Amino acid sequence: MSSPPRRLKFGLIGLGRLGSIRARILATQQPRIDFVAACDTKPGSDKWVAENLPSSVNFFADPTDMLTNGGIEAVLISTATATHAPLIIQALDLGLHVMCEKPIATDVATTEQVLAKAATKPNQVFLIPFTKRYDASYVHTKQMLDAGTLGDVHAVETHNADQQEPNGFFVAFSALSGGIFVDVGIHDVDIARFYLQPKVGIANPKKQVKRVFAVGQQAVYGALANTGDADNGWGLVEFANGKVFNMHVGRTLKNGYESTTRVYGTKAHSLINGNSTINRVEIRDQYGVRTATTPDSFTLFNATFLTDIAEFAAAVLDGAPLTCSVEDAYEAAKIVTALQHSFRIGQPVYFDDEGRPIFEEAK
Ligand SMILES: NC(=O)c1ccc[n+]([C@@H]2O[C@H](COP(=O)([O-])OP(=O)(O)OC[C@H]3O[C@@H](n4cnc5c(N)ncnc54)[C@H](O)[C@@H]3O)[C@@H](O)[C@H]2O)c1
Repeated sequence: MSSPPRRLKFGLIGLGRLGSIRARILATQQPRIDFVAACDTKPGSDKWVAENLPSSVNFFADPTDMLTNGGIEAVLISTATATHAPLIIQALDLGLHVMCEKPIATDVATTEQVLAKAATKPNQVFLIPFTKRYDASYVHTKQMLDAGTLGDVHAVETHNADQQEPNGFFVAFSALSGGIFVDVGIHDVDIARFYLQPKVGIANPKKQVKRVFAVGQQAVYGALANTGDADNGWGLVEFANGKVFNMHVGRTLKNGYESTTRVYGTKAHSLINGNSTINRVEIRDQYGVRTATTPDSFTLFNATFLTDIAEFAAAVLDGAPLTCSVEDAYEAAKIVTALQHSFRIGQPVYFDDEGRPIFEEAK
């Protein structure tokens, strides 16, 4: 009789907006994972775990305690961005496989420290899953590009905007998130890199970006000025291979969440989520023809949260390949921190021959 397939003993740190969704998926919909430990430092988290997760999931109030004594082989870190780096390094040093929400850190130097640590642990899986890469429409677009359907792809344009939040959650979150370009824009930068292949056609593979420029506004949430942040931002990236990426990121829509991606080729262009409607139902009334907008990114990307964890489990258990590389996370991090800096100083940011952004002061 064959033995049952091996399952991965798994822990989760962070049970906030995203982590609570991750926890439910880990507990119920992951056939190759034994979800055995969950941690959050927030008071009341023990009660949330007891009420929402199976009794087989042990609660830990201290991450070090969970990483050391949780009986886990792998961990998903879903805490605020500024806390990622020390947790990743600690988990890697304890011999664990690590999956962590984007971005690795809010600055380039800390990102590089994490990557240096990961490089010393080649037998441990380390995944930063960029949500869009696990979404069927984005995967389909990449397949079209690879088949030449759009011709030579020369530019990508994205619009990625959240609904206004009455509590302005992200205003308090801003100091820990790195700002709108780092926190939101990293998804768009990553998918643009996926489509524009900035390493192809250049003499120096380290220097993939020529320059970036960003502007932004505090259209609704004036307090964001205190952290050098914006509620609407526009970013332009000129890659060294001549390709161009242009994005709008925002947090002030009234109708819901919109995330569109346009890929321009010489034969055709493609558009993902041209109308961010939640379904195909139209309401026809005194206002005309209306559809309901997807309320938030979590709704749209629920399915991708299934796929990326399954991929991570297969990488650990079977040595299967990962969709996102650590290099992708590094390159995207450099671009978004450069965009955030450009917005703050009001000037373009250039990249040096090592491929690092040159962070000058405002002139
Ligand atoms: N892939 C995506 O599309 C996506 C979407 C949203 C958020 N994120 C990322 O997920 C992360 C979490 O975002 P969120 O919106 O859930 O934040 P959140 O603030 O709602 O939740 C974070 C939770 O982590 C806990 N926490 C913080 N530090 C901790 C520590 N050291 N040990 C244990 N618990 C700790 C907090 O108490 C909180 O409950 C962020 O890095 C964010 O960038 C990714």
